[in-house]
Amino acid sequence: MRYEGLLQTYKQYLPMNENTPLLTLQEGNTPLVRAENLSKELGLDLYFKYEGLNPTGSFKDRGMVMAVAKAMEEGSRTIMCASTGNTSAAAAAYAARGGLNCIVLIPNNNIALGKLAQAMIYGAKVIAIEGNFDRALEIVREITAKHPITLVNSVNPYRIEGQKTAAFEVVDQLGKAPDVLAIPVGNAGNISAYWKGFKEYYNAGKASTLPKMVGFEAEGAMAIVKGEPIKEPETVATAIRIGNPASWKTAVAAAEESGGQINYVTDEEILTAYRTIAAREGIFAEPASAASVAGVYKLKREGFFKGGETVVCVLTGHGLKDPNIAIKSIGQEPLVVKDTEDAVMEAIAKLEGA
Ligand code: F0G
Repeated sequence: MRYEGLLQTYKQYLPMNENTPLLTLQEGNTPLVRAENLSKELGLDLYFKYEGLNPTGSFKDRGMVMAVAKAMEEGSRTIMCASTGNTSAAAAAYAARGGLNCIVLIPNNNIALGKLAQAMIYGAKVIAIEGNFDRALEIVREITAKHPITLVNSVNPYRIEGQKTAAFEVVDQLGKAPDVLAIPVGNAGNISAYWKGFKEYYNAGKASTLPKMVGFEAEGAMAIVKGEPIKEPETVATAIRIGNPASWKTAVAAAEESGGQINYVTDEEILTAYRTIAAREGIFAEPASAASVAGVYKLKREGFFKGGETVVCVLTGHGLKDPNIAIKSIGQEPLVVKDTEDAVMEAIAKLEGA
């Protein structure tokens, strides 16, 4: 049967009515890939929810399709968001699809090139502020409160509604809820959305257990872990370079109610996990996504697991969003040689020795 997108598939769980357009770019329905090698290494039954395979390359498409459909239903002409890059790409794409105008505010020099390219090619008005994401979100909130423009950051409840469908898919794909759901935390909307989704599916009788929710901030942006906003957040994972998460309270509630935790990982741990999932599992996800895997390694070291648990790591965005960081983190360029068989054989020997 042809897949018809999130709004059609999960209609009964979403705030839909007969006036809500069935907007779709075939978002959702992303693979749950078993991490064969890391499962063995860690003594877990480990899976990746590979959200990088959404139409704009991140999980943001799930929330955005819902938020933009509701904006259309309400007769809005323009949507606006602050973004570290992925939200702006998704907003721009769904606005294009739905025939709306889109304005995005991004932190200057701090978003991955692929994300900027997306927002621009989809036709959004892209404005880079000399300030960080948190400041951009403040400005967007002020402007959308005063003007007839729909805010589509995850403080818009429809975003969370759309994003919760990822939890439904995880349960449908595993045939049960996982024991642990590991997820990167930036503005904290996604962990809140997953927890909402797991609870709703549980209450609907679709799963007989609930997972422990474990969320990971980047060390240089660990506002929730520290218990206070961070003025100048800094991390290699620009997607989660956020110092004052908007969904702070619901993220803490998700961790507490589920018996999980909000923890943090260092940039070094993030980059190690980033290279590991690519080199050992063949999965290329962006650095922020790798925070979930780095976090599972950390919990393993801390003795969190008994062994054998079913763990799902959410890989939130595609690695191709930020190719520069990939090449930089490998620390070498391709070897350039003469166009002869001998030169290539010599190069192979050299690389094998390396
Ligand atoms: N991973 C990626 C790839 C992201 O882009 C984001 C957030 C997160 C994780 C964290 O999710 O904010 O719900 O806790 N990106 C937002 C953006 C902030 O503007 O694209 P969260």
